[in-house]
Amino acid sequence: MNVSIIGTGYVGLTTGVCLAYLGHKVKCLDTDARKVDLLKSGGTPIFEPYLPELIAQSSANLCFTTDYSVAIPGADVVFIAVGTPPSRDGSPDLQFVRAAAEGIGRHFDGEHMVVVNKSTVPIGSGNWVGSLVRESFAAHHNQKSDHRFSVASNPEFLREGTALHDSLYPDRVVIGSDDPRSLEVLYRLYRPLLDQTFPAPSFLPRPEALGAVPLVSTDLASAELIKYAANAFLALKISYINEIGQIAERVGANIQQVAKGIGLDARIGNRFLQAGIGWGGSCFGKDTSALVSTAAEYGLSLPIVEAARRVNRRQRDLVVDKLLAELKILKGRTIGLLGLAFKPNTDDLREAPALDIARSLVDRGCKVKAHDPVALDRFRAVHSDLGVICCAEPESVAEGADAIVLVTEWQEYRELNWQDIGERMRTRIVLDGRYALDRARLEGFGFRYLAIAG
Ligand SMILES: NC(=O)c1ccc[n+]([C@@H]2O[C@H](COP(=O)([O-])OP(=O)(O)OC[C@H]3O[C@@H](n4cnc5c(N)ncnc54)[C@H](O)[C@@H]3O)[C@@H](O)[C@H]2O)c1
Repeated sequence: MNVSIIGTGYVGLTTGVCLAYLGHKVKCLDTDARKVDLLKSGGTPIFEPYLPELIAQSSANLCFTTDYSVAIPGADVVFIAVGTPPSRDGSPDLQFVRAAAEGIGRHFDGEHMVVVNKSTVPIGSGNWVGSLVRESFAAHHNQKSDHRFSVASNPEFLREGTALHDSLYPDRVVIGSDDPRSLEVLYRLYRPLLDQTFPAPSFLPRPEALGAVPLVSTDLASAELIKYAANAFLALKISYINEIGQIAERVGANIQQVAKGIGLDARIGNRFLQAGIGWGGSCFGKDTSALVSTAAEYGLSLPIVEAARRVNRRQRDLVVDKLLAELKILKGRTIGLLGLAFKPNTDDLREAPALDIARSLVDRGCKVKAHDPVALDRFRAVHSDLGVICCAEPESVAEGADAIVLVTEWQEYRELNWQDIGERMRTRIVLDGRYALDRARLEGFGFRYLAIAG
């Protein structure tokens, strides 16, 4: 099928490359000419494991453009995968979705097409996008587009860092539409993925236990709510274990043992039950905030979701509180941060806890040094105002440091020569924000080991 993807960010690029790998003809469109030029020249604008390899294997089915008149005519399916960042009041900023919908309408050739919202958008946005496409088509073609296109919602559940795996081997595919034609077209599009009939790439083997992928077909509003409800649930699971972590610390319990004991209950499950600094990233914060603001439009409050957000904010403050309790005075101290990205295996810094932690420490007069295996260039480009010293090597972070905070649990930090790290530091204090380090080993090297809870 002919597919166009609007937006080549973490979601759009991953979706486009995977659909091309499945054999569809895919045009990826972005208004950011630098990204498109980079993609055309064989580069990738984001760090995502195996993305360059999968692009290389799918290149015969892929092209990149900045031009709606190239991408839209002739498309059977157009995915909107542009950003929906939070506005000041917490509701999502839909200006990019609006521009995409208007661009689609302007260049729509009148042959049947399904317009799919893959961006995370507030409930009701499917209808809104439909009317924008319709109005834009009418304004530019002097005729009505009624019945020539249909709208669907196909929320995305990929995780950065494992985005390709999640897209090729999803737990489920959700498609919401009030028009049966959308469902029929998208079922054909996703058939190889639903039936898992495609050959697995050698570098992304199919999970052994994976059978057919369930398709959940719903009305538009339900699909839109599924995405928010899923993210809010995962966010509150993390905040729940962090809340229990606080009581664990007070009573002398070990939060990791507690999490294991809870998570082995099949009704609960062990995923998203890791205590620590809490969630970051472009989704949980903005999506929980959007859900709260949608509820407010209907006169509802969501106290559970709001509490999860409060607990998550508190986790970041705990880092500074712990360092203050240990060092007594923060002014003039040198603090090293290991990890800037909001989680390992991505270069995404949106809502990363490291940003708030660095800001608080700098505000208290600390000299902050930081390292990240892949996010350093992006950090330098976007966050130079923070006054953080960027270190190309983790060992440089340790040089003269009064304490090191492990913010992001990159595998390479587990494997550092911690004896050498200790020798470079002024005082051997490590705050393990993710329970990623071997406490006994570090204590063996003379470290004072601190964790977020306990
Ligand atoms: N990142 C994730 O892990 C993730 C997971 C699930 C869902 N989502 C949702 O998917 C959507 C996209 O997220 P992302 O992380 O990929 O965002 P992103 O910021 O990485 O990418 C968005 C891209 O859209 C482009 N763009 C903006 N306006 C455009 C326009 N009018 N025409 C063409 N291109 C345009 C931007 O230049 C950018 O490259 C968001 O709604 C997000 O909430 C993200």
